[in-house]
Amino acid sequence: MSQMKYDRFLNEISRRREPSLLRELFSLQVEAPEDAVFLMAGMPNPDTFPLVEGSLTLRDGRALTLSPKKMVDCLQYGPTPGYPPLLKQLKDLTQRLHEPPRWRDSDVVVTTGSQSGLFMAMEMMMSPNDYVLIEEPCYTGAISILAPYSPRYLPVNSDSEGMIPDSLKAALSRWRPKDAQDPLSDIPKFIYTIPTACNPTGAVTSEERRREIYKTACEYNLLILEDDPYYFLQFMDEEKFPSSYLRLDTEGRVLRFDSFSKIIASGLRVGWVTGPQPLIRKINLHKGASVISSASMSQVVVNELLEMWGDEGLRKHVREVRRFYHTQRDAMLLAAEKHLSGLCEWSVPAGGMFLWIKVGRISDTWSMVLERAMKKKVMVVPGQGFMTDSSSLCQYLRLSFSANTPLNMEKGLCGLAQLIREEIELQNSHQFLQKWG
Ligand SMILES: Cc1ncc(COP(=O)(O)O)c(C=O)c1O
Repeated sequence: MSQMKYDRFLNEISRRREPSLLRELFSLQVEAPEDAVFLMAGMPNPDTFPLVEGSLTLRDGRALTLSPKKMVDCLQYGPTPGYPPLLKQLKDLTQRLHEPPRWRDSDVVVTTGSQSGLFMAMEMMMSPNDYVLIEEPCYTGAISILAPYSPRYLPVNSDSEGMIPDSLKAALSRWRPKDAQDPLSDIPKFIYTIPTACNPTGAVTSEERRREIYKTACEYNLLILEDDPYYFLQFMDEEKFPSSYLRLDTEGRVLRFDSFSKIIASGLRVGWVTGPQPLIRKINLHKGASVISSASMSQVVVNELLEMWGDEGLRKHVREVRRFYHTQRDAMLLAAEKHLSGLCEWSVPAGGMFLWIKVGRISDTWSMVLERAMKKKVMVVPGQGFMTDSSSLCQYLRLSFSANTPLNMEKGLCGLAQLIREEIELQNSHQFLQKWG
């Protein structure tokens, strides 16, 4: 196994991030005699906290109780990498699910949802005008992080089997693999991808493609940012899930972003990043400087829930959530077959919450949605928002099947079909006027 060096991936700012001097002082606490008096903590006194204990009721009727001691954990600052019992559980879970080949050189940090993990990782690497390899179409939240850097995007195309390895190779064709050794080269540092149930396409990247993409990343010394919040929402048996990039990572070049948003609760804002220790260390330094620690209450609640469930309970819960979205997807497909056949094209989403449709007979969906959709009492997201070049025309729409009843999906798609038909007529009459008017 080669020994990775991570300097090439860090920008000026993250290179300058160092632990605070006080951290050293606090680490001495561990070896302190039992009767030592600590007059250094900046933490508030828990005796002043207004809440003392609590109880939450689970859907199955069981109670999750927060004892007075747990409540102090909920209300007090915590260590930057995460609430220790939760961190341990996340490490165990990640190791069990992905069996990372470089586990001993890896670390985990709890994040405020995977979004904050992505933000910190990109902030660690990006400099203005950098080239960026990004799967397209792509999660808008990633574009929001990247856009202020005015990046030179190298969009990598995807289809119903996820990111296309040949498109990645084509995007890299202006460089040679050895350029990655040249500190002055402008070769990209990372590939950003959503391999499972991609938002917006719903595609799951096949195992074969993942292996090929990983090989290319090794060849060009790139990191892979594996944004995987829909990991558990693949509509297939767990044994058939393709290997995560983390599982394929024999060289230490994957940063994996996980989240409880889609399977426990998005408002708790608990996610985690797994990756090579030197990179996680930098993310921790960013986190320490920006938020000190993630919300303790959320971390304690997730930890208690996971402890209560155990491995089997978590699997059972996730299976139920998966089944729910699978049924929702089928309802959406049924409604789409009924109302959009002949008007739109789509691939069956292999997971997640979205149906990505192409409206081939109109040149752009933006004004149709923004100016006319509400009149038909339906709202969808125009595809442009998922493109790196938001000024170009886009024929796609993203429809969500997460929160609507089958009846509402049916109603919504009926309205959408009318909207599209009218848009086609409008477009045809414009074209007629342009030609003859
Ligand atoms: C692909 C992708 N990545 C990241 C996120 C952010 O998730 P979180 O709630 O964990 O921050 C989302 C949320 O929709 C997403 O779709």
